[in-house]
Amino acid sequence: MSAIQQSKVTVVGAGFVGMTCAQRCAQEELAAEIVLIDVLEGRPQGIALDLDQAAAIEGTGTRVVGTNDPADTAGSDLFIVTAGRPRKPGMSRSDLLDVNGRIVGEIAEYIRTGSPEAFVIVVTNPLDIMTHLMRAKTGFPSKRVVGMAGVLDSARFSWFIAEKTGTSVVDVDAMVLGAHGDSMVPMERYCTVNGVELSALCSKGDIDEMVDRTRGGGAEIVNLLKTGSAFYAPASAAVAMAGSILRDEKRLLPSACFLNGQFGFEGVYTGVPAVLGKEGVEKIVELPLTTEARIQMQKTVGEIEADVAKLVELGLL
Ligand code: 2OP
Repeated sequence: MSAIQQSKVTVVGAGFVGMTCAQRCAQEELAAEIVLIDVLEGRPQGIALDLDQAAAIEGTGTRVVGTNDPADTAGSDLFIVTAGRPRKPGMSRSDLLDVNGRIVGEIAEYIRTGSPEAFVIVVTNPLDIMTHLMRAKTGFPSKRVVGMAGVLDSARFSWFIAEKTGTSVVDVDAMVLGAHGDSMVPMERYCTVNGVELSALCSKGDIDEMVDRTRGGGAEIVNLLKTGSAFYAPASAAVAMAGSILRDEKRLLPSACFLNGQFGFEGVYTGVPAVLGKEGVEKIVELPLTTEARIQMQKTVGEIEADVAKLVELGLL
């Protein structure tokens, strides 16, 4: 474990994803202070107290503070925004646009005023659109506002590959680009098991099946849980991104980034490979795309743009 980071991290939303983010940040000593904020009275305070008591056993030095008051988040170096409604079985992530758009708008306001130098990692769905909204409402440079999804979707693809090929997930490298939605773009040509291409380990039919399961990976868990959505892997993904920024690890992680001409897209957030370090998004890596992947990227970006237009219609942007 590396030395405790002398930073202040705020996790917004004390639902399952938020509380798990706070726990992971505390266990990794990613910050000297973690603020967990939620509108529900008592819940963030209770979780914080529980985590502070767990620290006595874990031997970690991070202090977790639970609050309902946005003023307590002031001066944060980094926010992980998880607040918002989760999907119910049968809902798409876009069905949350209106309700979560209003919540993200309010959060953006206190981030902008209280922590004007902060980095923001957005986890709230629909992910790419909420990240777009966060950047627009904070007015922050786009390198400081990034969305979590590619790491999660790639992790799901990695697990399916490990399961199907009978290999250890630690040896699997997988990459998923595009929107965090049904139109995401699993990049099978960039997936390997310790350098060995997927095609050497399983059939085309197997790969297609894993791609489909990855696209529906979030819904599969929503349908199983019935009351809520995944939280362990989403939290692991968000905290991996936060760690790369706060510790300047410069990990290359698929992240929802604002594109300014990269991959031929302009003014839109979507999942692309990015180097995350102390400046935030330090570099977007433009991979050569096959014709099929390019068509899929155009489709995914088209869907995000349509949802951003709906935000404008709703008066939220
Ligand atoms: C998921 O895919 C919550 O969108 C998140 O599980």
